[in-house]
Amino acid sequence: MDKGTFYITTPIYYPSDKLHIGHTYCTVAADVMARYKRMRGYDVMFLTGTDEHGQKIEQRAKEAGVTPQQYVDNIVTGEGGILDLWKLMNITNDRFIRTTDDYHIESIQNVFRALYERGEIYKGAYKGLYCTPCESFWTESQLEDGKCPDCGREVAYAQEEAYFFRQSKYAGRLAELLPGFLEPQTRVNEMVNNFLKPGLEDICVSRTSFTWGVPVDFDPGHVVYVWVDALFNYMTALGHGNSKYDDLRYWPCDVHFVGKEIVRLHSLLWPAMLMALDLPLPKKVFGHGWLLFEGDKMSKSKGNVKDPVILAERYGADALRYFLLREFPFGSDGNFTNELLISRINSDLANDLGNLVSRTVAMVEKYFGSKLPEVREEGPEDAELIGAAGSLHAAYERHMEDFAFQNALVEIFKVTSRANKYIDETQPWILARDESNKPRLASVMYALLETVRICAVMLQPFMPDSCAEIFAQIGAPEELRCYDSAARFGAMPADAQVSRGDAVFPRLDMAKEVEALGNEV
Ligand code: MSP
Repeated sequence: MDKGTFYITTPIYYPSDKLHIGHTYCTVAADVMARYKRMRGYDVMFLTGTDEHGQKIEQRAKEAGVTPQQYVDNIVTGEGGILDLWKLMNITNDRFIRTTDDYHIESIQNVFRALYERGEIYKGAYKGLYCTPCESFWTESQLEDGKCPDCGREVAYAQEEAYFFRQSKYAGRLAELLPGFLEPQTRVNEMVNNFLKPGLEDICVSRTSFTWGVPVDFDPGHVVYVWVDALFNYMTALGHGNSKYDDLRYWPCDVHFVGKEIVRLHSLLWPAMLMALDLPLPKKVFGHGWLLFEGDKMSKSKGNVKDPVILAERYGADALRYFLLREFPFGSDGNFTNELLISRINSDLANDLGNLVSRTVAMVEKYFGSKLPEVREEGPEDAELIGAAGSLHAAYERHMEDFAFQNALVEIFKVTSRANKYIDETQPWILARDESNKPRLASVMYALLETVRICAVMLQPFMPDSCAEIFAQIGAPEELRCYDSAARFGAMPADAQVSRGDAVFPRLDMAKEVEALGNEV
């Protein structure tokens, strides 16, 4: 069935340094959503990339004694760089955009000129307080404790001849747009109270103080403000303003996942610029929370960064992917600790799911020589488990459609716990003592295999490799790994055949791991 298109994006990250677990969090969430939608039959476009221009990158390159292009090339495509990180994390982006790509630069020049020709951009002079790392001008009233409201760093007085975008003109339309467009709802209130109510201002969209950016082609010496350059990536990557791609059928975007600190740019500047060009608006911006480390935002400059490479190599990408989306509600901040990671892996993956799979497969092997007989006998314990597994599909879908990954996972693990309890209730090891109980025992095993299969189908977007392993062990054929097949309990062939393998999620020694990580991360 043709479900239509689904377009999802992550922010394009600054390759000023290696990426950390915070960036990984957002990309993993988008990957899970993309895989989920593909599984449902959507024609998915999943875009991520890098935001390579701007003063900060120019400075970093200078410090490193290389050209800005060499600097970003190394961080993006070099060994252990961003592309390698996404490969390690099993990220299935369909496209990767770099703002230094020729087609993107050409598109940005076209967009900037179009805005100017429409009178949406005008030339003026900027005097104000400037935050260099954020490349943002602020008014006195926007500062928090005299510092940049985005990053908390010092601002300095600066003045330059510049182009301005008539953002103020769109305040009314933006106020109408925000409810429903921006999620979670609390972020709408922040935007209204902090930016719309005090009066939305025109925004400076060019710079002359440095050169590492897209040149304004009709006014040499000016480069396009990095956020105009960056935000349009979501359209240039589909072919807007260039002939490299012809994929604008994916526009408007279904959802932009962004961290809460860049919600302002995505929910005000971005739609305002699209309105100015009479282009369709994205359907949704979702502002997710931050991973905090001892209560502080993780950042390279604070030296409290968790390296996703170390964690993924030690525990596997799947366990890390699972942990990130299970532990932290997607819209809120959460504290990252190594203890939480290990204990989540142990409690959910090793004890609950892993144990269920290995016990089930081992019992089918032991009691039936790996292949179930077709003669069955139902029992009083069955109805509750079958009910729980059979109704999982609808609950899961509801949460996934709301980007409530944590809730979707909670629902799945309620069922795996229920299945473990079912083993205790039915006591297969006692049934196995008497030959006449074999039909009942077969029925118990079948219910367990079927429950594992249904859970694994829905876990696939989160832990693709582990689920493939689970399917192989329980003998689920290809067609019973698809999304629709998980809506029906009883799809597994009656004579299912298992093949025992290694533990999918080995148990970890907390003290040992915490110590090892403490020395590394
Ligand atoms: N280049 C801009 C985005 C332009 S999008 C048109 C940028 N880049 S960034 O490298 O700073 O990445 C910011 C994004 O990374 C955040 O919005 C968020 O998605 C993710 N995160 C970075 N640190 C994070 C945490 N500590 N926690 C959660 N997400 C974090 O801003």
